[in-house]
Amino acid sequence: MATTTLTTLAEFEKAARQKTSEFAWSYVSRPGKDGQTHTDNRQAFKRYRLIPRNLRDVYIRDTSVTILGTKLDFPIAIAPTATHRLLHPDAESATARGAASMNTAMVLSSWSEHSLEKVAAAAPRGVRWFYLLFYRDRGRMKRLLVRAERAGYTAIVLTADQPFFTFSFRKVPSTLPMPLWFPNIYLEDVPPGALGSLELADYFKKTIKEAATWEDVEWVRKNTRLPVVLKGILSVEDAKMAVRLGIDAVLVSNHGGRQLDGGPATIDVLTNIVRAVGGEAEVYLDGGVRTGTDVLKALALGARCVFIGRPALWGLACNGAEGVQQVLQILKDELNLTMARSGCAKISDIQPSLVVHESYYLY
Ligand code: FNR
Repeated sequence: MATTTLTTLAEFEKAARQKTSEFAWSYVSRPGKDGQTHTDNRQAFKRYRLIPRNLRDVYIRDTSVTILGTKLDFPIAIAPTATHRLLHPDAESATARGAASMNTAMVLSSWSEHSLEKVAAAAPRGVRWFYLLFYRDRGRMKRLLVRAERAGYTAIVLTADQPFFTFSFRKVPSTLPMPLWFPNIYLEDVPPGALGSLELADYFKKTIKEAATWEDVEWVRKNTRLPVVLKGILSVEDAKMAVRLGIDAVLVSNHGGRQLDGGPATIDVLTNIVRAVGGEAEVYLDGGVRTGTDVLKALALGARCVFIGRPALWGLACNGAEGVQQVLQILKDELNLTMARSGCAKISDIQPSLVVHESYYLY
């Protein structure tokens, strides 16, 4: 598909839908329950307005940022999402190449169908973080931490907002173009194709520790030399707890509205989390980021970087690594332009005074 004519993420979404099987599309798009949180993630961005500062010298702009000590060309990275092979045969390796070509970071999901080593080899110069699942067997977790470190992953991401997995493999249609294969999860004990979908669900139930606790987070922090990012933080209390445990960064996230429905839009809780963290850890945000203006608003409210989930998958579905690159390029260009129009020449010029919630002037 010629994707060079696509100029917005909304256009990528439309094109991706046409290219993707019904099963894959519903997997990628589905919100949790009624979709209130999923919808609000998007709508909430629109409730913030920008108050630009004009007549500043913004002729030359610099969108670069440093997260966990690594410089990125712009503050937009790729959130962990599962099973990229449903969208494109080159799967996570293509996503990693797309991110690396733009000099930004990608978080690889444990639920990837290319092993963490294969993804590392596909984009050796890319910035890669690894999303580690919690397992019942700590030895298994330790082996994965070592594998991630050896393969050049530079941070471990733990997801706090998924205490229950649906393991809906019972619903996977027999028409799936592939057997499902999760090399980061099986470790050495399951050869490819050995398990049918029912056995898979049982295998996951037996090995993955669904309802993890702070104690598990602390164990990970003590058992890796890599920085740890805690993803799925929405409350001030949890943010403070993360800081107390020495977590390096919190990612304000509601899983793209796929877990608890009825929770807040991420942008609406960002300010409180930033305040609670008080500079003791980096703060990131994901959920509903679709334009450069959204990015600017999140940065103004205190996020150091934002992450995208579904939009990267739309790019992947449309055009593999190149599609991922194009989606990132669109967001980067939009951010750059919005920075110019709001009087910001560099990321540190993006300050809270740039943004006002509509309720301040409507009422
Ligand atoms: C996800 N997300 C997710 N999060 C996580 O911590 N581990 C995972 O394996 C997955 N898998 C996953 C699959 C799919 C298909 C989607 C859409 C999402 C959540 C993801 O990391 C991120 O929080 C949201 O996708 C961000 O919201 P947007 O950008 O999709 O609106």
